[in-house]
Amino acid sequence: MNILLLGSGGREYTLAWNMSQSPLCDQLYIAPGNAGTPTFGINVAINPNDFDHIAQFALENQVDMIVVGPEEPLVRGIVDYFKKDEKLKHIHLIGPAGQAALLEGSKAFAKRFMETYDIPTAAYQEFSSANIDEGLAYIATQTPPIVLKADGLAAGKGVLILDNIPEAQEAFKAMLGGKFGEAGSRVVIEQFLDGIEFSVFALTDGKSYQLLPVAKDYKRIGEGDVGLNTGGMGAISPVSFVDETLMEKVIQRIVEPTIKGIHKEGFDYKGFVFFGIIKVGNDPYVIEYNCRMGDPETEVVIPRLKNDLVALFQATMNGTLANQTIEIDTQAAATIMLVSGGYPEAYEKGKVIEGLNLATDSMLIHAGTKMEDGKVLTNGGRVMAITSMGKDFKAALEISKKNAQCIQFEGKNYRKDIGFDL
Ligand code: AMP
Ligand code: GLY
Repeated sequence: MNILLLGSGGREYTLAWNMSQSPLCDQLYIAPGNAGTPTFGINVAINPNDFDHIAQFALENQVDMIVVGPEEPLVRGIVDYFKKDEKLKHIHLIGPAGQAALLEGSKAFAKRFMETYDIPTAAYQEFSSANIDEGLAYIATQTPPIVLKADGLAAGKGVLILDNIPEAQEAFKAMLGGKFGEAGSRVVIEQFLDGIEFSVFALTDGKSYQLLPVAKDYKRIGEGDVGLNTGGMGAISPVSFVDETLMEKVIQRIVEPTIKGIHKEGFDYKGFVFFGIIKVGNDPYVIEYNCRMGDPETEVVIPRLKNDLVALFQATMNGTLANQTIEIDTQAAATIMLVSGGYPEAYEKGKVIEGLNLATDSMLIHAGTKMEDGKVLTNGGRVMAITSMGKDFKAALEISKKNAQCIQFEGKNYRKDIGFDL
């Protein structure tokens, strides 16, 4: 079968790595891909949000399956776009339809869903500019820290945690006043949960599901988890504190009721569900849902997965996912993200990346890279994920750290302390 993968990050490189090894995969296309993805298929210069262009390419190239890496095309309704067109509906998409993608695309929608299906999450209220005064009064009754969330997609920047009531009220007004554009036209105010976070991933056909390895990512730019939030500076899998007892609670209280809810709501959902979970005391609570794989979590989850992803996707499509058996490598994986100087604030692109041939024993997972005149250049904030395997995450991390030193580009920055809190 011919497969088109949408996206250009480390997540997509890693998915392409697995899928290209599948005997079920004839031709893999990656749109738009990065400097590393031509190892696995053909890069095509198409924007993942340009549905007309994607459709035209898919028809011209007999694409049978489209795997959607990032959330934006999903929230914008790419699955619906293909389903409602007679000429396109034979093409299988991995990812939920637009309404189900609101589990990620609208914080308020996700909170209502969790309330309906009794899934543990922080207590909350939602407000819009129509009831701004009620919102301000509500904040005044809360004990800081106060968590404000812009309802819509805000590229990971829509959550603010404020230490006192006046600041929270100011931030609330700014959010509703357009600081986050349309994404902030509705705001969720929620209870602050104090605990340690981890990420759980499932693949679902809308009825049954299979769990993938558990991971933990490190989002802050600075060592010791300080400074600005980023897309993710590194990740590890497995996660030592997520033992059998905790995982059983996650399955019974969160995963099962979520999949049942998806089924009951009649959502068209054939794809990944990402549960962002926080452990408070000994109990798990949902912080957020995403309707796609995590990045950089994919860079440690997929290397530990022994299964052929294409076979799993095929089972997702034809309703036989329940019959599949997930096989996980007992080794641990760790990844370190090399980022551009200045990221997550302003940074320069186009720096030459050198020393790639000096790295050994790691997967060099391209993220923000591009090829120009035979040179690999930086092309984003998150440039390259270095994933290694070992008997535990510390052993894996040592290999990644060694290789992080070999690879050079102007302004290179990375965290050496991934997993420091475990
Ligand atoms: P989200 O985009 O919902 O994942 O939120 C981004 C980050 O904000 C999360 O990864 C948490 O670290 C933090 N966060 C979100 N909601 C809460 C909460 N209710 N309590 C504490 N921290 C939170
Ligand atoms: N690493 C978090 C995310 O992909 O949203």
